[in-house]
Amino acid sequence: MLNDIKDVLIDEKTLKKRVSELGKELAEEYKGKNPLVICVLKGSVLFMSDLVQSMDIPLEIDFMAISSYGTGTRSSGEVRILKDLDKSVEGRDLLIIEDIVDSGLTLSYLIKIFKDRNTNSIKVCSLLDKPERRISEVEIDFVGFAVPDEFVVGYGLDFAEKYRNLPFIGVLKEEVYV
Ligand code: XMP
Ligand code: MG
Repeated sequence: MLNDIKDVLIDEKTLKKRVSELGKELAEEYKGKNPLVICVLKGSVLFMSDLVQSMDIPLEIDFMAISSYGTGTRSSGEVRILKDLDKSVEGRDLLIIEDIVDSGLTLSYLIKIFKDRNTNSIKVCSLLDKPERRISEVEIDFVGFAVPDEFVVGYGLDFAEKYRNLPFIGVLKEEVYV
């Protein structure tokens, strides 16, 4: 698996340190609020697991699975809900956890869905931000790292469902795609 990686963009130590910092920042932000932390499956699973362990406050977690219609690596922004949240979000403070915001279309669609559900607040925390590819100007409240316009894998992010278990963020070699 490591043979398929061209570059390590963010190594394990840097990743863990930043995630722990973010968790502490979020704990400050949500002190006394019992936020509902929403993990968008599957890419955000590793990030969310580490993040909440650095948040020393009462919180709840829930999972949402979506699939975005689109071709290749471009998303259309139209999102189909494959698994909805278990509980109502009415009156809750939502913290959406994303792996990466690319065009921003998926995230804007998600926010739109939640805005219709009478929440108290909605904020977004994304591990990675690929600002060069933004189409929808969506606000990300907490960002781990900005990354260049390259397809990245690892720490939850996949290529054809593989490489999610790498403990770092890396760029695949071109020959892996063909
Ligand atoms: P949009 O374009 O709607 O897409 O912001 C966000 C979703 O697209 C996937 N995505 C990636 N997945 N490496 C990946 O493994 C990448 O470089 C990448 N760029 C976008 C991802 O599922 C994200 O939630
Ligand atoms: Mg995703």
